[in-house]
Amino acid sequence: METKSWSVKGKYVIITGATSGIGLAAAKELAKRGAILGIIARNPAKAEATVAALKAVAGDDAKVDVFHADMTSQQSIHDVAKVIENSWPRLDVLINNAGAMFVKYLTTEDGIEMTWAVNHLAPFLLTKLLMNKLEESGNGRIITTASHGHKMARNGIGFDDLNGRKNYRFPHLLMGGPNYRYGETKLANIMFTAELGRRLEGTGVSAACFDPGLVATNFNQDNGALARMTMSVMKRFSRTPEKGAETLVWLADSDEMSLSSGSYYKDMQRIVPSNQAQAPVAAKRLWEMSENQL
Ligand SMILES: NC(=O)c1ccc[n+]([C@@H]2O[C@H](COP(=O)([O-])OP(=O)(O)OC[C@H]3O[C@@H](n4cnc5c(N)ncnc54)[C@H](OP(=O)(O)O)[C@@H]3O)[C@@H](O)[C@H]2O)c1
Repeated sequence: METKSWSVKGKYVIITGATSGIGLAAAKELAKRGAILGIIARNPAKAEATVAALKAVAGDDAKVDVFHADMTSQQSIHDVAKVIENSWPRLDVLINNAGAMFVKYLTTEDGIEMTWAVNHLAPFLLTKLLMNKLEESGNGRIITTASHGHKMARNGIGFDDLNGRKNYRFPHLLMGGPNYRYGETKLANIMFTAELGRRLEGTGVSAACFDPGLVATNFNQDNGALARMTMSVMKRFSRTPEKGAETLVWLADSDEMSLSSGSYYKDMQRIVPSNQAQAPVAAKRLWEMSENQL
């Protein structure tokens, strides 16, 4: 039998969006497998409930730290990165999983459109801030939750309208602008991962992203009654959070990542994303433009 050279047992793992859905299911499985977890959460009560849920499945000795941050605020991300930097001895795996979709055009305190801020710029910034710590660990991993929904951004990233105003001109729920915008952020996750893979060559750190499939979670519950109704219909065709988290857990706990950094996965297989997601020139441009938004 082939032996694994990497296991998540005893590894220091930071995860965002672990208070619900895919992130919570992944955190439970990682805790069961002996990871030392740090959950980044915005809601203290939900964070407490998550710690209790993790200990309920992994035992009272499970190691879980809570870090507080709101992914809509760049200051909050800077603050939490500093706390992690100072309080954790090392960092082996960073999981950028928190995500949302905003049907209304809203901007953050930094003047960034919300869906872009939470889904793309937050992982971009958090990864950059924690990179030294990941590099120090020798063979760190960065895993980002992307989506098949990246294909909704049929024309790629709107570089002439990075704050997405055009997307919100005709907001309606099924095929409207906010969906395109969401797709754009998930496309950005894949392009960011590909560019990260290129930039990390020779550092020992690797990057991957994955499509969890259509998963029954709390996603899109804050966008009014019609969105909730749509999601409840979609739930009938959805996977469980545990199934949705399977590839994430596998990426955190298998040898695979060191083999193919920068790749996109589904169901524990490397898959090919849209043509836009594979364009290195656009990925480099996205990286540079994202830096200008910080
Ligand atoms: N569900 C699907 O079918 C599906 C498909 C493809 C990809 N995805 C992706 O999967 C990821 C997880 O989503 P999910 O489906 O599990 O949805 P979910 O149940 O709504 O979970 C989202 C998580 O992100 C956190 N979060 C959202 N905004 C945040 C903020 N501003 N600051 C800090 N944390 C924040 C939430 O925290 P609170 O608990 O405080 O709200 C929650 O823990 C997302 O990136 C999503 O795009 C989902």
